[in-house]
Amino acid sequence: MRLSIGIGLGVVLLGSSVLGYEVKTPPLDTDWTYKVGTDPWPEYPRPLLQRSRWQSLNGVWKWRPASGLDEARMAPLNETLTQDVLVPSCLESGLSGVQELNVTYAWFDREFQVPRGWSAHNQRFIINFEAVDYEATVFINGRKAGFHRGGYWHFSVDATEFVNFKGTNKLLESPVQVFVFDPTDMEGYNIPHGKQVRNPSHIFYRPCTGIWQTVWMESVPTSFITRLDIAAGMDGQVDMTVLSSGASESVSVSVLDDSGNVVASHDATSNEPFSFVVDSPQLWSPDSPTLYNLTVSMGGDEVTSYTGFRTISSGEVNGVLRPLLNGKFLFQFGTLDQGFWPDGLYTPPNREAMVYDLKVLKDLGANMLRKHIKVENALFYQACDQMGLLLIQDMPSMKDDSVKYVPTDAEQAEFERQFELLINQHKSYPSIATWIVYNEGWGQYRDGRTPEIGLTARAKELDPTRLVDSTSGWYDHGAGDWHDNHHYANPQCGSKFYSAIEQLNSSPYDPSRIAIQGEFGGIGHNISEQHLWKVQAAINTINQTYEINEDLDAYNYRGHLLMSELLDQVKMYSCSGAVWTQTTDVEGEVNGFLTYDRRFLRLDKKQWKADIQALYDAAHARGGYAMTEMF
Ligand SMILES: *[C@@H]1O[C@H](CO)[C@@H](O)[C@H](O)[C@H]1NC(C)=O
Ligand SMILES: *[C@@H]1O[C@H](CO)[C@@H](O)[C@H](O)[C@H]1NC(C)=O
Ligand SMILES: *[C@@H]1O[C@H](CO)[C@@H](O)[C@H](O)[C@H]1NC(C)=O
Ligand SMILES: *[C@@H]1O[C@H](CO)[C@@H](O)[C@H](O)[C@H]1NC(C)=O
Ligand SMILES: *[C@@H]1O[C@H](CO)[C@@H](O)[C@H](O)[C@H]1NC(C)=O
Repeated sequence: MRLSIGIGLGVVLLGSSVLGYEVKTPPLDTDWTYKVGTDPWPEYPRPLLQRSRWQSLNGVWKWRPASGLDEARMAPLNETLTQDVLVPSCLESGLSGVQELNVTYAWFDREFQVPRGWSAHNQRFIINFEAVDYEATVFINGRKAGFHRGGYWHFSVDATEFVNFKGTNKLLESPVQVFVFDPTDMEGYNIPHGKQVRNPSHIFYRPCTGIWQTVWMESVPTSFITRLDIAAGMDGQVDMTVLSSGASESVSVSVLDDSGNVVASHDATSNEPFSFVVDSPQLWSPDSPTLYNLTVSMGGDEVTSYTGFRTISSGEVNGVLRPLLNGKFLFQFGTLDQGFWPDGLYTPPNREAMVYDLKVLKDLGANMLRKHIKVENALFYQACDQMGLLLIQDMPSMKDDSVKYVPTDAEQAEFERQFELLINQHKSYPSIATWIVYNEGWGQYRDGRTPEIGLTARAKELDPTRLVDSTSGWYDHGAGDWHDNHHYANPQCGSKFYSAIEQLNSSPYDPSRIAIQGEFGGIGHNISEQHLWKVQAAINTINQTYEINEDLDAYNYRGHLLMSELLDQVKMYSCSGAVWTQTTDVEGEVNGFLTYDRRFLRLDKKQWKADIQALYDAAHARGGYAMTEMF
């Protein structure tokens, strides 16, 4: 038996044996797997709304499976849970220390202490969950303190009335217990879950259950800032709303340059939109991702944030409708980015690993990535803001088979509610340029109802500063800013040819919208067993890959041909952007630039950099940005 002492909480005595948290060997590891330790994700988790008084609750918690929803009625306060689990993680992942599949109900538990000095009068004490998949019922000291539904969104629990404050010097341990229910794609449920399935196969992967993003606590004044909506344009205008927990109060905003000098200040009122102007700001773009810090104060609350000045729009350039960044046509090239990890599944092992993918893409000359039916933690979006990577952000889809599983009215309403959460929680990141409502008809009615039309309008209402790709792939009914074709392996981007077979139901390019190849490429290469996800069921599906190249020369040759076809379509037709499938291999898919373990890059870098640059040059010849500074 191995003794392993975690920070604070890792040890429990069970008879004579000592158990502790240990990584469970995953089917494939990464260079980061065994570096995570018991203090995962220590970074400040909410860069758009920062306060100084905070403390992480990540680390080793206890857990046990539960039997059903009935258990959520009462917390197991008189029970000692004995099994260790790393928070944040997915129960199905090796990093969790559990690696169990098909857990539907579970209890998570740990003790915490309110830090000294946080119990003063006029302070509230908040516990923040960055994401729990899928439903969470939170108990503090055995009393229900909150409930949240939806696997991708952050939520907060005001714990003030539930914790033990026994005078200022006698702070007692309080248990926080979280009941989790996650049906994923279980029969009888149709929820936003993206690519997670109970029974993985080919393009669908192992699911994530539980507290998979940071949990942390903070101290706030009685009346505090709950959200900042910030949109800063190329003309220097900052449109803001400071949302507060109580009645409207006066707020004061300052914008700082990178030397910390105040370049603009403005006084306003919370819970009401306001605007002010920063004179001649340096603009944000992929080749020059300039950010400005903000400080916002309201009564006794002071928070910091940041923004980037940029305007996303569409407009005609030499007779073709184009996506514009700061008024100029910017061709967008990037990858389909799924954000799965062999050791952490939905949770990257650490920030360095997460940013590694972004660096590889940036280094190749990509200026965009499509975050595919998954939502990441806030530090991912901050990294894209800092590095200059535009994002096409998908809404996580419901079940892909929308003929067999037609969403009920209640399921549709819940999808729409969570689509609003996606936008409201992410609309202040400068890097996000486009929202996607539906991917390839997944969860989309096939009976003539067209909710994407209303959802596109709703997206524009909540966030008038971005473009909407209403149906990426198919079934298109004319909604949104983009006309999005998916085709493997070769592109059909903004072109006068398309696939007519019923199953794909793609349509000829519609010049009243902007053309994008929302997916193409996907060519595979079955690398050595060393880099494969060692799950036989996944290996058995490798032969479903659109195309397999026997060696890397063939892979790169095919890559060059497909990129050359895309280049022709940029030159001859109306192609304004393209998404190559995909950043990495995932489970039984072997078509990544990188292998699933991120240890091997298949690309002939010189060739791919030249092929990507050629797209920008061709777009430049047609009135687009010159993106030559990128290398
Ligand atoms: C915990 O308390 C509940 C409710 O009072 C009771 O039904 C249960 O038997 C107790 N369990 C233990 C392990 O003491
Ligand atoms: C999990 O459940 C799925 C279907 O619900 C089943 O196909 C699969 O075999 C189960 N896996 C395990 C490890 O029990
Ligand atoms: C914003 O503030 C943080 C923390 O003080 C600092 O590290 C960062 O460099 C600042 N960023 C800019 C763009 O000024
Ligand atoms: C792919 O491989 C699996 C398992 O090796 C096999 O059962 C299946 O028939 C193969 N499919 C095709 C299309 O070759
Ligand atoms: C891919 O490689 C693995 C391991 O080398 C092998 O077991 C599998 O049969 C291969 N599949 C295909 C379709 O080449």
